[in-house]
Amino acid sequence: MLDRRGVLRLGGGLIAASGLPWPRAIASGALLPDVPPARVLKREPGLVEVELDAQVQDASIRGEAGRLWTYGGSFPGRALEAREGDTVRLHFANRLPEATNLHFHGLHIPPTGTADNIWLHIPPDERFTYEFTIPKGEAGTYWYHPHLHGAIARQLWAGLAGPLIVRGPEDERPELAAADERVVMLKDLALEDGLPAPHRPLDWMQGKQGGPVLVNGAIRPRLRARASMLRLRLINACNAKYFRLALDSGQPLHLIATDGHLIEEPMALDDLLLVPGERADVLVPLEHGRPLRLVDLPYDRRIPRYARRETLIEILPSAEAKPLPLPDRLVEVRRLDPQAATCHRLVTMAMFLINGQPFNPDRIDTTPRLDDLELWEVANVGTMDHPFHIHTWYFQVLSRNGRPETTRAWRDMVNLRPGDRVELLVPFGSYSGKSVYHCHVAEHGDKGMMATLEVVT
Ligand code: C2O
Ligand code: CU
Repeated sequence: MLDRRGVLRLGGGLIAASGLPWPRAIASGALLPDVPPARVLKREPGLVEVELDAQVQDASIRGEAGRLWTYGGSFPGRALEAREGDTVRLHFANRLPEATNLHFHGLHIPPTGTADNIWLHIPPDERFTYEFTIPKGEAGTYWYHPHLHGAIARQLWAGLAGPLIVRGPEDERPELAAADERVVMLKDLALEDGLPAPHRPLDWMQGKQGGPVLVNGAIRPRLRARASMLRLRLINACNAKYFRLALDSGQPLHLIATDGHLIEEPMALDDLLLVPGERADVLVPLEHGRPLRLVDLPYDRRIPRYARRETLIEILPSAEAKPLPLPDRLVEVRRLDPQAATCHRLVTMAMFLINGQPFNPDRIDTTPRLDDLELWEVANVGTMDHPFHIHTWYFQVLSRNGRPETTRAWRDMVNLRPGDRVELLVPFGSYSGKSVYHCHVAEHGDKGMMATLEVVT
């Protein structure tokens, strides 16, 4: 373990570099903090070079001192920002007392080498330089977190998660550019004896949740809008907590992007389910002077105890802002032809098993051919909800329980209730190599609800 003085010294270095007030006091009712960016070493057209470390950091949550695991001394972890087409060079240093690595959740980059390589094992006090190029057309809301098998749940719960925002030409459309854009990372956290509460046996079954929901590290913050339209880039970075988001006024949320990609046109939703790992971009039109609340409604994911209604953000509209219109068309989402699928697969999920087997990193479970379109039928044969995720290659939902999906959208997360059968169309383009698909309740993944996938040529 790092000793206290060592930790404080590292933290101290960062205070000087960034001017952030650490140890940070997390109280209720503060203004929504922006997630501080990772330290940029170089930014030029086509390249962004940043520095990031994983380190232990002291903070105080509602007056209670807590020692969190952080990226760059910040909770949530420091924001990574790039433009589509950019090469990202990220100098990572592991200052944790144990090994870790990084997963760039949702990014369509190689699953190998110095890119989204979850097979890397970075021991304490070691460094690794990640380098990859984000293809054009991949602007969107992503996030990063550790992916060392068996340690993911503990490390994520302790605080290791940060936003990753990719910008592109679509973000410059007038209706989107005029909106007040905020990254909103949601993560619950309970402390015990000054440390993230340890996992208990039942947590591995139910998924660990509890404590206050921290919104960019703050409890029930206020958001003072700078325009009469908000664009919220919502990220569920919880181990297991589901959110069912809504506005307390009864106005809809206007969904514009699912996971990392814009949909064809805004979709008005009375409530929005956001499962662990999932992202959604929503527009919130603000009426003159009328405050709103973003609330989390109860959702039963078939565990004994589930959330009550909770206010996440108090939104205060700006007084002078003029009303802004919602965009009508956004983008064209490529239509995939199920007839063109070269392979149909059935994937079953049940507690700690995928297709009846626990994870074995040395076994290759699924070998799609590069550039093939596959049709996967994912079935939840268990007794609680499981959020399903595929790395690197994202998909469209074709049908749920036999009912065709009406909105065409790219996703890398899809929730399955007990008994659900969901058909996915997955184009395995761009990259070959070995990666995984799994349940994104972090505890379930660590306990074996994960399978390997190797795209072969
Ligand atoms: Cu955020 Cu393997 O996942
Ligand atoms: Cu699960």
